[in-house]
Amino acid sequence: MSKKTEFNITVFPGDGIGPEVVQEALKILRIIESKLGLKISINEAPVGGAGYEATGHPLPDASLELARNADAVLLGAVGGPKWENIDFSLRPERALLGLRSSLGLYANLRPARIFPALVDASTLKREVVEGLDLLVVRELTGGIYFGEPRGVDTLEDGTRRGFNTLVYSEPEIIRIARIAFDVARKRNKSVCSVDKANVLESTGFWREVVTDLHSSYSDVELSHMYVDNCAMQLVRNPKQFDVILTTNMFGDILSDEASMLTGSIGMLPSASLGEKHAMYEPIHGSAPDIAGQELANPLATILSVGMMFKYSLDREEPNEWIESAVESVLGQGVRTADIMSDGMKQVGTKEMGDLIAEELEKRNVA
Ligand code: IPM
Ligand code: MG
Repeated sequence: MSKKTEFNITVFPGDGIGPEVVQEALKILRIIESKLGLKISINEAPVGGAGYEATGHPLPDASLELARNADAVLLGAVGGPKWENIDFSLRPERALLGLRSSLGLYANLRPARIFPALVDASTLKREVVEGLDLLVVRELTGGIYFGEPRGVDTLEDGTRRGFNTLVYSEPEIIRIARIAFDVARKRNKSVCSVDKANVLESTGFWREVVTDLHSSYSDVELSHMYVDNCAMQLVRNPKQFDVILTTNMFGDILSDEASMLTGSIGMLPSASLGEKHAMYEPIHGSAPDIAGQELANPLATILSVGMMFKYSLDREEPNEWIESAVESVLGQGVRTADIMSDGMKQVGTKEMGDLIAEELEKRNVA
């Protein structure tokens, strides 16, 4: 059967540095589109603070509708100080959470791979990070982020309290663990499931369900680790990991930690996948303090486009081209501010995008 060649992509630039990094990523997307003879139509819409400004809600209905009708969504970043004091339910971050739950994006893949040229940009020693290639598989639509009951209330004696609920059902654990085992099969066949089973019943249950499911994946090695130990092991010996499977909140924390092993949070792409939809975004935030100054690193968003081709547009090569283009540009000593070091040449957001584009033009269609 011939592959589909026409696609619909919805783009949410968002806030802060979101629009600038997305612009560079779209440049790359267009190059690949023409190289592969595809036809990609792009719809842009506001979400986050931009959505709030446009419609009074961070996730406008029209934006969500566009996302539902797309083959994939590309998102920049949301949030900023301007919206920090508005009601919780209207904060820019609610757009992300709303998209994840409305689109059923339960599997968040966050690869942390170190580019050889950046080994010395890591805060860890060369021998600890050189060759690092791990993948965090984070559950994204359940756990404490979405559990009920939640809120802030006042007890009869007048004491105020805040509470959230960490809950996972068996089907929720099974479907995310399947993703982890399936991707591990295409990597080094090793899954480390991270929990806090010594304290939290819900994650003890998580461990039990993952262990049971493992019997259908006996070719993949499974280990379990408490989250505090995992946080330590990630800086002690991160190369012991292949796939880290974990809950929503632990994955949020561990993936930020893993990103720094690679030199900068500005380098990490991500894919959020569900049964019907998919969204791609850098793992970094909107960095309002550096917005509009040509200081943002567009590479995480550019690499996210590679993941989009791989997981949503059924094309493997663009991801490889993008990764190798990033490697050669970094190899030429070119750096954005966040990964700058002595003797390197600092470039702005747009120039970095242009250099990757130039490099990509040299890649041949097989
Ligand atoms: C992330 C972010 C989000 C999260 C925030 C912005 C809601 O930190 O994607 O990791 O906590 O999931
Ligand atoms: Mg996070």
